[in-house]
Amino acid sequence: MQTRHDNFTWAQRGRSVWMGGATRPDLCMVAGSGAWIQDAEGRNYLDFVGGWAVAALGHAPLAVSNAIAAQAATLLHCSPGFWNPTAVELAEHLANLTGYHKVFLGCTGAEANECAIKLARKRGSGKGAWKVVTTVDGFHGRTLATMAATGKPHWQTLFGPAMPGFVHIPFNDAAALELAMDDSVCAVMFEPVQGEGGVVPATAEFARAARGLCDRHDALLVADEVQTGLGRCGSILAHRELGIHADIATFAKGLGAGFPVSTCMTSTDLDVFEPGDQGGTHTYHPLGAAAGLAVLAEIERLDLCARSREAGSALECTLREIATRHALANLRGSGLLRAFDLPTPDAARLVEIAREEGLLLNAPRPATIRLMPPLVVTDSDIMEFGVRLERALGRL
Ligand SMILES: Cc1ncc(COP(=O)(O)O)c(C=O)c1O
Repeated sequence: MQTRHDNFTWAQRGRSVWMGGATRPDLCMVAGSGAWIQDAEGRNYLDFVGGWAVAALGHAPLAVSNAIAAQAATLLHCSPGFWNPTAVELAEHLANLTGYHKVFLGCTGAEANECAIKLARKRGSGKGAWKVVTTVDGFHGRTLATMAATGKPHWQTLFGPAMPGFVHIPFNDAAALELAMDDSVCAVMFEPVQGEGGVVPATAEFARAARGLCDRHDALLVADEVQTGLGRCGSILAHRELGIHADIATFAKGLGAGFPVSTCMTSTDLDVFEPGDQGGTHTYHPLGAAAGLAVLAEIERLDLCARSREAGSALECTLREIATRHALANLRGSGLLRAFDLPTPDAARLVEIAREEGLLLNAPRPATIRLMPPLVVTDSDIMEFGVRLERALGRL
C-alpha cells in the first residue's frame, strides 16, 4: 500500500517527529548479530560503540531474546505492587555476585543513580547531610538530579537552575576532595573509569582517599558502574580493582545487554528506604529481570570478565601498532573500555570517515576516540577493526 511516507528515508521521517533528533547521521539500523550491525540499506558495520556499551553479548543475543520471549509469554508485567519470581531471582543473583544485600531494579542508569542519591540523602537527612560530591567530567545521567551530579558546567544551567546539593571537584584530586568534605556531605559519587569524560581511570590513590574521607565524615561512597561494571573493564565491579569497597554501586547498560534494566545495590544496614520511598511503575520488571538473569548466566558461562581482559589486550596490541604509524597517543583503558587520542581535534571527522569504512566509533572529546565493543567481540573482529581503522586514519 502506498503511503505518504514512501519517498522519504527513515532518517528524514525520524528527523521530522523525534524530539531533538536532528544531529543523528542518516543511518537507520535494522538488524545485528555479534559485533556487527546492519542498516536499512543492507550495509554492515563493525560496532565498536557497542550500542553505547550496552551490547555486552553482541547484537540480538539469542540467550536474551529467548529469555525475554519466554517471560513475555508467561508474565509480561504484574505491577510493582506484587512480587514476581524473576525479579526476586535477579536480585538474589546480583546480591550473590557482588556481596551487596539489597537491590533496587529500575530501567535506566540515571534511575539507578537517582536511587543512590536518594538513599544517601535520606540517610544523611537526620544530621543535615545532603550534599553529594561528584567529579568534573563525570557523567551520571540525564534526569534533573543526575544532570546536576554530572560534571558538565553547561548542564548546570541548561534547564534553569540545577538541583542544589552537588559539589564538583576535579577528578583524581584527593586534596580537592578533602577540602570539599564536611559533615554536610552525605555521599561521594564517581565512575571507576570516566567514560563520557574520555576514558579516564580513577587512580587507586584517589579511590582510597575517597573511601577514607567518606568514613571520616560518615558519608557514603557511591560507585557509578553503569558503564564500567559487569565485565566491561574486565571485572564485575571495576571499583574493587582500585582496592576499595563502595557502599552503593549501580549497574545498567550491559545488565540487560540491550533491554533496559538497571540496579542500585547496597548493604542491609544502609537500606534506609521505607515503603513508598522508592519505586516506579516499571521497577522490578519481569522482562528486565529475565534479560538480566540471562546476561548474568552468559557472563558466567562464557567467562566474559576474562574474555574482556583478553580481548582488551588484543585490542591494545592492534592499537599500539597503528599508533606508531598514525601518531595516536595516550592509549588507555582496561578490558573493553578503551580510548586513544588523535594528534589533532578531528575525532568527529574520523567517526564519519570510519562509518564510511563500515566501522562505528565514538568521539567523547574533540581529539579522543572511545572503543566499547561487545564483550563477545572475536579476534577476527579485532583484526578487521584494525584494518578499517587504519583505512579511515589514512583518509583523515
Ligand atoms: C557512567 C554513567 N552513568 C550513568 C549513565 C546514564 O545511564 P542511562 O543513559 O541508562 O540513564 C551513563 C550513560 O551513558 C553512564 O555512562
